[in-house]
Amino acid sequence: MGLSDNFGRPLFNLRISVTQQCNYNCTYCHREGEVKPANSGNTCVEMTSDEIIYLAKLAIDLGVTRIKLTGGEPLMRPDICQIVEGIAGLSGLKDLSLTTNGYLLYNTAQALHDAGLSRVNISLASLNPENYQTITGGGVIDKALAGVKAAVNAGFNPVKLNMVLLKNINVSDVPDMILYAEKMGIVLQLIELDPVNVSRDYYLQHHCNLKEQEEMLQKRAIYTKQRQFMHNRIIYHLSNVNVEVVHPVENTDFCMHCTRLRITSDGKLKPCLMQNNKLTDILTPMRQGAGDEELLQLFKQANQLREPYNKNHNQHKLLL
Ligand code: 5AD
Repeated sequence: MGLSDNFGRPLFNLRISVTQQCNYNCTYCHREGEVKPANSGNTCVEMTSDEIIYLAKLAIDLGVTRIKLTGGEPLMRPDICQIVEGIAGLSGLKDLSLTTNGYLLYNTAQALHDAGLSRVNISLASLNPENYQTITGGGVIDKALAGVKAAVNAGFNPVKLNMVLLKNINVSDVPDMILYAEKMGIVLQLIELDPVNVSRDYYLQHHCNLKEQEEMLQKRAIYTKQRQFMHNRIIYHLSNVNVEVVHPVENTDFCMHCTRLRITSDGKLKPCLMQNNKLTDILTPMRQGAGDEELLQLFKQANQLREPYNKNHNQHKLLL
């Protein structure tokens, strides 16, 4: 009943970027693969909350059960709770989550939870204040940590930390981060740097293949599990904390188990983080009054354009 692409991969996940605005300037940020801020003069083309909720509804009608809100920084939108409430109220949805840098979370976590958000991911590249500030382009660690606390207190389950590993920058912070996740009762995700929207030099200097970390986790794990519909990611269950490893680069298995479609902040269906040549504008037709049938057709068309990026690993190099 739901959609599958030409490679037999079902469509279960939708990742919606609700804004390109961000109060941070993280050195590693892939900006969800968006080329550059969609500016027309000074005003960004952004979907309204009603448009976002409507697109979410259509996606759910087509079989999507899990939605993630991203940015930029999604909490920069003053109407983020409205967006969450609107999507959370749609029947058929099993999971609604949001990825944030955490800066504004200390006083919005409870409202987001009350609005129906199930989970949050908080980007945290280091616990060291100076390191954190450098990586994030001026971020304040205390604010992010207050955000983590507020998320735990609000009852999100699980709260996850997203730690993109950067060689010569934060790899040595991993043990501290595991201890912190354990102390807070939350999940740590170690994420491999993707070569998207970062310079070739940056990637070559800082890309870390996570091998050492995976070996260390394998030794410490009581057992491991694979998340089949989430890129076959591995979760290492340590005695008091779970650590998930996200290893996308040159990983055919990751791509074969991708069940995701994206919507860019300016309303384009995007089949893959790594590719920008297959965008389907859905916002313009919607604003011009296209009916449900036409919009569903655009979703189906975008789904057909989904393709595992890592069939040929050399393709990665084209982006650099
Ligand atoms: N490589 C891998 N993951 C990234 N993220 C952002 N930029 C990159 C990148 N270049 C992830 C971070 C952040 C989420 C929104 O995207 O985990 O939390």
